[in-house]
Amino acid sequence: IKQPSPDGLAQAYILAEKFLNGSPSAMILGDNFFYGGGFKNMLGKAMQKNIGGTAFGYRVSDPKRYGVVNYDMHGKVQDIEEKPKHPKSDVAVTGLYFLDNTASEKAKRLKLSKRGEFEITSLLKLYLREGQLDVKRMGRGYAWLDTGTFESMIDAGNFVRTLQARQGLQVGCPEEIAFENKWISKGNLLAAGEKYGKNDYGKYLIKLAKNSGH
Ligand code: G1P
Repeated sequence: IKQPSPDGLAQAYILAEKFLNGSPSAMILGDNFFYGGGFKNMLGKAMQKNIGGTAFGYRVSDPKRYGVVNYDMHGKVQDIEEKPKHPKSDVAVTGLYFLDNTASEKAKRLKLSKRGEFEITSLLKLYLREGQLDVKRMGRGYAWLDTGTFESMIDAGNFVRTLQARQGLQVGCPEEIAFENKWISKGNLLAAGEKYGKNDYGKYLIKLAKNSGH
């Protein structure tokens, strides 16, 4: 489904209503990058929650660029502000959202913001008002990067290159993940590797298949 004009992230839930067909969903922004131990469990928990929504908070040095979480004195989420001039915390809301099957209906109730968008923050606030929003914190061991500018894209690329070169493991390798979860066979993995020819990614997949027990 193509968004006809850039009218905001929350519009995705209106455009995708038929596709969602009454199911809960996860949405990730294409320029967001996540890395960290335990991430899979964090996602699993968000996925299991049938009612309400989950967003993720991450400490940043420049909260003004993002949706920002306001906490009360007990550490409870009080509000979320989109790109506030005077952020009340340094916890940004990342571009990964798990919302229940009321997201489309809620999105239709939203009004355009001052910048002319259906804001994801406004949608999250509807969940918050119903007492149905969890904002899980990604701790300092996580990397949340964005790749929306040339500079930040290079930073993220360098981050991945450093990890991969040091560990000899690929970051976010769909074929490896599928193989580990037994969604594809060893033959499928080999074939995928061969498709890439002699580049390092192809060699990595072929080595994985050859060294595997199953
Ligand atoms: C959007 C959201 C913002 C969120 C950010 C995460 O910002 O509106 O709340 O913190 O994504 O990447 P935008 O991409 O519109 O600047």
